[in-house]
Amino acid sequence: MLLEGWIYVCEADAIDEEDVIRFDSGSRSFAIYRSEDNDYYATDGFCTHEKVHLAEGLVMGDIIECPKHNGRFNYKTGQAKKTPACEHLTTYPVQVTDDGKVYIQID
Ligand code: FES
Repeated sequence: MLLEGWIYVCEADAIDEEDVIRFDSGSRSFAIYRSEDNDYYATDGFCTHEKVHLAEGLVMGDIIECPKHNGRFNYKTGQAKKTPACEHLTTYPVQVTDDGKVYIQID
């Protein structure tokens, strides 16, 4: 099925449960998450505190912990949860097709 306006990211099983991967598109970078209850989410790829890739951080439940200063965000809502990360992340819609492919909508 062709999903207009959506960008292919990866096969759904390429992301482990309760994990995150980095996805780059053009000059932009995103973080794509699979939760422990098997749902998929997407946020900006960089921490809002400093430009560090969140995909190098740790997923714990609904939280992504930044690898540099341990700031935390809820990756489902984008909300900053622990300083020094104060500015929220932008989140993006994610779809997983019946044949197991992950797409995000970034515009
Ligand atoms: S760079 Fe992420 S908390 Fe500082």
